[in-house]
Amino acid sequence: MKHLVSTVFLSSCVLALGLPLPLSKTAPLEPDAHPVDDLPFAESYLDAYYSQGPVRKRSTESLPHQLRRMQSFFGLDPTGQLDTGTLKLMKEPRCGVPDVAGYNLFPRKIKWPTWNLTYRIVNYTLDLSREETDQAIQEAFKVWSDVAPLHFTRLSHGTADIVISFGKKDHGDFFPFDGPSGQLAHAFPPGDNIGGDVHFDDDETWTNDSRAFNLFAVAAHEFGHALGLQHSSHPRALMYPLYTYSGLKDFVLPEDDVEGIQALYGPRTRMVSAEVPSRCDPNFSADAIAELHGEKIIFKDRFMWHHSAQMSSQGWVVIHSLWSGVPDQVDAAYSLPDEDLIFIFTGEHC
Ligand SMILES: *[C@@H]1O[C@H](CO)[C@@H](O)[C@H](O)[C@H]1NC(C)=O
Ligand SMILES: *[C@@H]1O[C@H](CO)[C@@H](O)[C@H](O)[C@H]1NC(C)=O
Ligand SMILES: *[C@@H]1O[C@H](CO)[C@@H](O)[C@H](O)[C@H]1NC(C)=O
Ligand SMILES: *[C@@H]1O[C@H](CO)[C@@H](O)[C@H](O)[C@H]1NC(C)=O
Repeated sequence: MKHLVSTVFLSSCVLALGLPLPLSKTAPLEPDAHPVDDLPFAESYLDAYYSQGPVRKRSTESLPHQLRRMQSFFGLDPTGQLDTGTLKLMKEPRCGVPDVAGYNLFPRKIKWPTWNLTYRIVNYTLDLSREETDQAIQEAFKVWSDVAPLHFTRLSHGTADIVISFGKKDHGDFFPFDGPSGQLAHAFPPGDNIGGDVHFDDDETWTNDSRAFNLFAVAAHEFGHALGLQHSSHPRALMYPLYTYSGLKDFVLPEDDVEGIQALYGPRTRMVSAEVPSRCDPNFSADAIAELHGEKIIFKDRFMWHHSAQMSSQGWVVIHSLWSGVPDQVDAAYSLPDEDLIFIFTGEHC
């Protein structure tokens, strides 16, 4: 086991995934609380999330130095002082992965060598039904596979790339959890063995709604790490280290995260069917429709089809054969009939 963990350290540059933090982190901070009382807590927080170097031990860096790094990350005034604002942020529930994961030492990108990944849920929390947990996990993977060419397959046994489990305190990886609140979960970056694995702190209450802590939201964040992403200091990013889920009904992955995952794996490219579409398919959905000279032009995959009141029987033609230079996949079309112009859009960014 020890060997596994040290391999991960070397090959994948996760430096540390959360020391046990000796503290009561949920107590609301009194306005006049004396920060000095919180010094041991602040020190272990900074060592856990803001120390640099491959080995985490009591840092050789000065406390103000580490504090300034943390304050800069969160957009606070980098005073190097342990003020109440800084302390308050330290007490927010968060991900157990460090915020400065060895950027300076290992600047290379860590990612999976394949787009097809497997995952396995080895055990469950009692807070949700198994079906609800399965669903939250599946939706959390979909957040990433919707924007990158990744494909996740669930295994019920055997060796999976991403192994998901719920554990309390010591749970077998030398990075024990800390009881309720504080650290919610942690994940290992892509790699063999423990690499890519995701652990949820089962001393938290996991929910499927806006009550703390929403499993889907935390899982989506941790899967970002399991795919190779680091923390973002953008407060609205999914990869922001603090728990910020507000219970949005339709989650949309923020642009910062989309750029992050696409920098590693590229954008998702839709499969363009080579088959001629069937107009009678009840499930038919066009890619785009525009009107030109009173005719509707319907785009689907590599094909287009004219439809006019006079003549509706004309078949599909390959878009290229009529308009060379038009891409294989049309995502939107817009026409100015008076001008005889048709605008064709492709890709996610127009
Ligand atoms: C990835 O998985 C998909 C779907 O199971 C499969 O069609 C494809 O061939 C796989 N690709 C690789 C490189 O294994
Ligand atoms: C789940 O599995 C992990 C890893 O094997 C283990 O440490 C943990 O105790 C298990 N949790 C439960 C609730 O069985
Ligand atoms: C959320 O979980 C609760 C408790 O397990 C369950 O009763 C409810 O149906 C779930 N809601 C959704 C939207 O899945
Ligand atoms: C249309 O979609 C439904 C639901 O996804 C599916 O059950 C059905 O087989 C589809 N029909 C055809 C003709 O593909």
